[in-house]
Amino acid sequence: MVTLKIKRQDGDRTWFDHFEVEEKTGMTVLEALFHVQERQDGSLCFRYSCRGAVCGSCAMLINKVPRLACRTQVANVKDEADDEPKDGVAAVKQSEKDEDKNEILIEPLPNQKVIRDLIVDMDHFYSLVDSVRPWIDSQDREPEKVTLMEPSTQEQLERYTNCILCATCHGACPAAARDGNYLGPAALAKAWRFYLDPRSRDKDRDELLELLDSESGVWGCDVVYKCVAVCPKKVTPTPAILELRKKME
Ligand code: SF4
Ligand code: FES
Repeated sequence: MVTLKIKRQDGDRTWFDHFEVEEKTGMTVLEALFHVQERQDGSLCFRYSCRGAVCGSCAMLINKVPRLACRTQVANVKDEADDEPKDGVAAVKQSEKDEDKNEILIEPLPNQKVIRDLIVDMDHFYSLVDSVRPWIDSQDREPEKVTLMEPSTQEQLERYTNCILCATCHGACPAAARDGNYLGPAALAKAWRFYLDPRSRDKDRDELLELLDSESGVWGCDVVYKCVAVCPKKVTPTPAILELRKKME
């Protein structure tokens, strides 16, 4: 058996519930949550879709580390000691984990408004990503031929195209915790992805750098690499932010 200690919130109240779940081989935290919802408390709310680490919607704080519930196995996290998650990622301090070694503490992703239980409002996160204009502007030009990309550029860029907008990086980010306007790791990584793209124009690149050149932009980053450590898709936002800073020097 494993105990899930789950943070509940209904708008007015915040409390913790404990649920005992029979552990099965290979069981993920998401499956354990289904077990609770289907057999013990149908009012438990959480978000998911693909169940395969593709949609990014099941991100939550598991033993104080932002992770995808569908990709996190119960067996791998149930005996993590408080403040010492096994994967070595620094914990995001929220609530205390009980000493019970078979317990998993589950909370909503930090730095977002909670709608209910483990569901957070992603609107602010999406609007931050949107604010860096993450697209190629082709409005006033008709390309006559395909734009070729150097293999080295493609290699550099590929890492950043893998983002699934799960916001685990945002949940781990200390700069996002203290500044609600901070663009955050995902948006800045996205900005670098479009800065690198050979189809972007110099004018767009200049405008982008101007937009990011502030304390709520690239200069807000603490360079503590927490976003890099938690990203399930190995996107590495911090090096992207450092590259963008270099372009401004
Ligand atoms: S950069 Fe990584 S952690 Fe951040 S939103 Fe994208 S996939 Fe998720
Ligand atoms: S359910 Fe889609 S990433 Fe977990």
